[in-house]
Amino acid sequence: MLDLKRQYRPLHQELLEAVGRVLETQQFILGEQVAAFERAAAGQLGVAHAVGCSSGTDALWLALAAAGIGPGAAVITTPFSFFASTSAILRAGATPVLADIDPGTFNLSPAAAEAIVNGPRGEGVRAILPVHLYGQTADWTAFARLGKERGLKLIEDAAQAWGAEWLGVKAGGLGDAAAFSFYPTKNLSAAGDAGMVTTNSDEVAERARMLRQHGMRRRYFHDEVGWNTRMDGLQGAILQIKLKYIDGWNQLRRTVAKRYHALFHAAGLAESGPYPAHGIVLPHEVPGSRHVWHQYVIRTGRRDALRAFLAERKIGSEIYYPVPLHLQEALKGLGYAEGSFPQAERAAREVLALPIFPELREDEQQTVVSAIADFLA
Ligand SMILES: Cc1ncc(COP(=O)(O)O)c(C=O)c1O
Repeated sequence: MLDLKRQYRPLHQELLEAVGRVLETQQFILGEQVAAFERAAAGQLGVAHAVGCSSGTDALWLALAAAGIGPGAAVITTPFSFFASTSAILRAGATPVLADIDPGTFNLSPAAAEAIVNGPRGEGVRAILPVHLYGQTADWTAFARLGKERGLKLIEDAAQAWGAEWLGVKAGGLGDAAAFSFYPTKNLSAAGDAGMVTTNSDEVAERARMLRQHGMRRRYFHDEVGWNTRMDGLQGAILQIKLKYIDGWNQLRRTVAKRYHALFHAAGLAESGPYPAHGIVLPHEVPGSRHVWHQYVIRTGRRDALRAFLAERKIGSEIYYPVPLHLQEALKGLGYAEGSFPQAERAAREVLALPIFPELREDEQQTVVSAIADFLA
């Protein structure tokens, strides 16, 4: 599914030297390596501020809290994402309100979000938290309009979307604040847990910096109750190295995605979406967006059987995500039930992520496509 060693091998020496620099300084928490990564990251994304922290989950909480979203606020988000998109809203003391997804992109549907804003729960809504799922930004033209018209904050869950763009603007600079994850499987990845908040607001950035170390502006003087969510110096040093390569890696991911597209079409397996009939529906890049293909996710009505078939042939695949958030045991209290979000529920039954990473070879992709052809035959 993912071979991280292929990325590591050519970087081996450079990474060891970066780690050595941190060991020499013995500056393990924040420090110059993290500050240098923050400056380089902000420059690459074209945002005013980047604030490193200890995970994507913490970055979501930090972005919400720094943007002033807390108790009494409702935040609209998607039921079809990783758990943290919703749990971070609860951690911030706010209330998640879920809205269904667009079946073509799997991203939060602007129309569904707008229906909530206009409905009985609309009064308490203070923010929308769209997720740029699988590496493609949510429909930002629609969310920016809605946010502006209703005075709502827009918080991006950009965990899967380093380098993605909407109309030429990079994810991380679209909303009031954004959260990135550098979990080892992400497009831009650390050697452990790490995350980052980005924003163009001086005030949000300043507050995020304070909240990531227990609400301190001055050492041992606590203005607010924050938390310990600092980035390690080692991660800052390693991420600085990888930052130099991420554009090239994302470009390779785009090449790999294009090749899948061509191979599936050549094999006559691709159906026009959004729902599969007998074959598979391929993912696509919507006009105006630059997809960075964190995942290449197909849809099929016989998903579980296909996955088992691929596993027999030693081909990796994954399901992101098998249970929509409104049906998770831990989120029962939100008051939703089976049938609340039909598009998210159907996607959870039909999606299958195929191997994709920059170093994936064409012959390996051919093997994947041939296996799927054999299954469908
Ligand atoms: C969409 C999404 N949001 C949030 C997170 C949380 O990031 P982390 O695992 O770094 O806490 C992840 C990654 O796991 C993710 O994919």
